[in-house]
Amino acid sequence: MCGIVGFVGNKKAAPVLLEGLQRLEYRGYDSAGIAVIKNGSIEIKKTIERISALKEATDNGQTVDGEIGIGHTRWATHGAPCKRNAHPHMGFKSRFAVVHNGIIENYIELKDELVALGVNFKSETDTEVVAHLMELYYEGDVFNALAKTISRLKGSYSLGIICREHPETLYAVRHFSPLIVGVGVGNNYIASDVTALVSHTKNVLYLEDGEIAVITANKVDLFTADGEKKEREPSFVSWSIDAAEKGGYDHFMMKEIKEQPDVIAKTFEPRIKDGKVFFEGLNLTDEKLKSINKIIITACGSAYHTGVVAKYVFEELLRIPTEVDLASEFRYRNPIVDEHTLVIIISQSGETADTLAALREAKNRGAHILSIVNVVGSSIAKASDDVIYTWAGPEIAVATTKAYSAQLIVLYLFGLYAAERLGSASSDTITAILSEIKQLPEKVKKLFEMEESIKKIAKKHHRMGSVFFIGRNIDYGVAMEGSLKLKEISYINSEAYAAGELKHGTISLIEEGRMVIALSAYDSLQDKMMSNIKEVKSRGAFVLATATEGNKAIEKEADQVLYLPKTHPLLLASVEVIPLQMLSYYIALYNGCDIDKPRNLAKSVTVE
Ligand code: G6P
Repeated sequence: MCGIVGFVGNKKAAPVLLEGLQRLEYRGYDSAGIAVIKNGSIEIKKTIERISALKEATDNGQTVDGEIGIGHTRWATHGAPCKRNAHPHMGFKSRFAVVHNGIIENYIELKDELVALGVNFKSETDTEVVAHLMELYYEGDVFNALAKTISRLKGSYSLGIICREHPETLYAVRHFSPLIVGVGVGNNYIASDVTALVSHTKNVLYLEDGEIAVITANKVDLFTADGEKKEREPSFVSWSIDAAEKGGYDHFMMKEIKEQPDVIAKTFEPRIKDGKVFFEGLNLTDEKLKSINKIIITACGSAYHTGVVAKYVFEELLRIPTEVDLASEFRYRNPIVDEHTLVIIISQSGETADTLAALREAKNRGAHILSIVNVVGSSIAKASDDVIYTWAGPEIAVATTKAYSAQLIVLYLFGLYAAERLGSASSDTITAILSEIKQLPEKVKKLFEMEESIKKIAKKHHRMGSVFFIGRNIDYGVAMEGSLKLKEISYINSEAYAAGELKHGTISLIEEGRMVIALSAYDSLQDKMMSNIKEVKSRGAFVLATATEGNKAIEKEADQVLYLPKTHPLLLASVEVIPLQMLSYYIALYNGCDIDKPRNLAKSVTVE
């Protein structure tokens, strides 16, 4: 959600900015722009189309001269998506240009104050106040003006700022919104995330909240807002540029679906040693773990859905009551959390605003915070007592696939790790599940053999008006994810229902030809699912079911069956989600949807 790039160096800035913005497109945006300084003035280019339009208009940036600049992809929060509201925004003396990610919560009060001083606002954004405050406080020293400006701001922001009177220096600030500095040789960069930088440098400084970076072509200095210098060595990013490119696939989503066997293996392999699960450097001591009497999992979107699956796994393996709550709800109730609560935070990006706020709420109440995160150095990772990384690599498609799968693996491993320490599951059970986890990469690969038949189903049914996903137990958890995947990328209305709940309302919506996807792979509840399938069939539904291999009985009831390789029932989600991801992909494809960048969605949701 909103992306920032910035560059200062010894080559043209615009091509670097446009390439960086294109790599940030996946975060979601509705307009974009760049600002570059040349010969003492700032040139701004904006678009309400894709970045490619800006590239075309500027011959890939070559027609815009200047070696320092900032760029932005905007996801509208304050003011409609239009050129006027697109960043960068200029101050009233056209001296400063500013890009911003986050929300300035007190912008109305600041705007009133500036308007009273005679400042004329050109946009409806909260960001514009920053550009004007910079002008107001500038007395020849940009750092001082910046320090004064940010002392007036409330909310979350990361900022990239250039000043036409100082064309050698780029300024950056981070305050509860992600921003990193890429350190090169004679060329330095800022960006919202690593994907925009890896083609240029792998040396990255993760800015901390409250830090200001003062960047020239050859130097990066970090300061607190009080002007105190901070020293920190850059971290090395191990992601390769291939990870941020399509590698022959038409869409990142399919590339990422196909990466899942590798991602699953990379996530569990280093954590299993001598038949046991092992996490390096966890602060959660055995004593602390034994004192835990409740687990709360909180997250948003698909990450929340992995939590729904984990509830079944944890309660089975640990016998500790486990609640799953949407982060946006958790933060606004009065949750019962104390030092005996383990709060597990799940987030691919590590930046989701509601999830981060839920984390802080739980921390204030004394819980131990364990987060499961994909992005190293992200806000959630930094704020947690313990972090387990998913190591899924950069996920570019807005609809998550491989990060979901990696999160599941970490959750299984943590369940087994804790069960061993608590003695809540037998060593035979732990060994059996671990051995099944090791087979998951091969089983997922085998599921890709289904792709052609899934494509045919998608082709035939892609105009389905609306869909119901039903399931019980873990099948229900997967139903939620399957339903979300379908609706987010194909815009087809779908709903996930606990199969037993169907007759308490939803069944009235079943009519001739209605598609029902009946997830029936949780073998011990299959008889119950068969009854639910009969209920919808007898009212005219078309039923596409899942079942474990060899289970032929289901063919008597369902119209079509997708067979899944057998695995331990607690690991079912890892195989069952794969055909549903492929099905959503092909349905969206046949409907001509923008699969990697669905309308209105953002990859990283950094506002409430
Ligand atoms: C957005 C994305 C979803 C994601 C959710 C949570 O809505 O489109 O794919 O599941 O945010 O994101 P997180 O980065 O916290 O996992």
